[in-house]
Amino acid sequence: MKTIITAWDIENARANCKKEIVVEDAIITEMAKDLAEKLNIKIITKGFDEKLTNKYYDSEKSFDEQSRYTYKDLKITEEIALKWKEEFPILKDIIHVGNCSQGPQAKRVRKAIENYLDNWLTVGMDWDYWVQETIKAKEEFAKLINAEPSEIAISTSVSEATASVASALNPHINKKKIVTTEADFPTIGHIWLAHQKYGYKVEFVPVRNGEIDINDYEKYIDNDTILTSITHVYYQNGFKQDIEKIAEIAHRKGSMVYVDAYQSMGTVHIDVKKMKIDMLSSGNLKYLLGIPGIAFLYISKEVLPYLKPAVTGWFGQENPFSFQIRYLDYAGDARRFDTGTPPVLTSFAARAGMQIINEVGTQNIQERIEMLSKHTINGALERGLDLASPLDPKKKGSTTSIKVNDPHHVEELLKERKIIASARGNVIRIAPHFFTTKNDIDIVLDELKTIVTR
Ligand SMILES: Cc1ncc(COP(=O)(O)O)c(C=O)c1O
Repeated sequence: MKTIITAWDIENARANCKKEIVVEDAIITEMAKDLAEKLNIKIITKGFDEKLTNKYYDSEKSFDEQSRYTYKDLKITEEIALKWKEEFPILKDIIHVGNCSQGPQAKRVRKAIENYLDNWLTVGMDWDYWVQETIKAKEEFAKLINAEPSEIAISTSVSEATASVASALNPHINKKKIVTTEADFPTIGHIWLAHQKYGYKVEFVPVRNGEIDINDYEKYIDNDTILTSITHVYYQNGFKQDIEKIAEIAHRKGSMVYVDAYQSMGTVHIDVKKMKIDMLSSGNLKYLLGIPGIAFLYISKEVLPYLKPAVTGWFGQENPFSFQIRYLDYAGDARRFDTGTPPVLTSFAARAGMQIINEVGTQNIQERIEMLSKHTINGALERGLDLASPLDPKKKGSTTSIKVNDPHHVEELLKERKIIASARGNVIRIAPHFFTTKNDIDIVLDELKTIVTR
């Protein structure tokens, strides 16, 4: 068993007027390193290799090597994060690390919803204004992923968006394989399995030790594959996939790539052009700070001409107001994936939430999330919690998962302690956002430690 040098050891050294601590083969926590630096106490390591016992840890590399990055010049400092908390009234009393499930209510989002309600109350019917808002929401989504607004369709859930994509594949061409993964949210698997009746064969790339080996894509995707349908971030433990590399493999074998970005959007910088993504969807209620009942679908203009959705309707037509029931006249852009009357109320909320994310900047948020991941991982190891997430912050999104007995009960107990976290399977998920501070994480981990050792 290795020694773990914690902040407490550094405090102890200071109390005993020690200027250095000499250790052999020990783990030094992030907090301990920070404090030692602040107090000018040297940690001298003899034969030190910082190997951790966690199964996700690559014991060939030191932790710092795996982390590789320093987080000194973050654009979102602790101070800025604290300032942003004021935008979310609930954060005055509550620590919210359940963003992988539902983000907190922002004042601006509430105001946007109230705008719609007031307009409906006073004007009565204002379709031009309402539909305009859905178009602006699409524009905001496009900005988030570096797409063109004409490449965005509106939907009500990721399930519905995915079903639209499925219905747009041509079952009469020779390619008959859909490759998806065990890390995808079950809804994705359900949709592809339901399409077996059109002759598709569905294969699942396996999850091993909480991750997917990129080399498996070489094995599973072949010339018979019409679509590779993957999640960006694994909902269970935050494992993040290298989309650009997977897209390269898929395209080389003639497969299109569809990405479910629900667990990454808003915390991971996404550039659909650079990542060579053909199609992508996300809902808005998690890190995009919106509410249930809306999702967006990106269809790149390169693949659009090949896709004709059977899940369609009048808003998917070139001119929804031509009222020609005998003609199916798809819109020339991604609007062909729109269906019926667009989700108006939720567009007001979604746009306001996405504006906040675009204002803060996804690159800045990603950097902060990586710092918080590192802090969470180190803090969990320091407290002896059972981590189920990758240890390298670059290999994960916001979620850090801790294995616990009865996660739903743990979620309840945390709630009693004014902490919102999210249970899933056999883990409790700690999913911070840009407004989360290191101190929030420390409190969450301390409370979790108390709960699991009761
Ligand atoms: C990655 C991911 N995809 C899809 C879904 C389900 O989305 P929807 O309910 O909008 O269909 C979830 C829900 O948590 C999710 O985490």
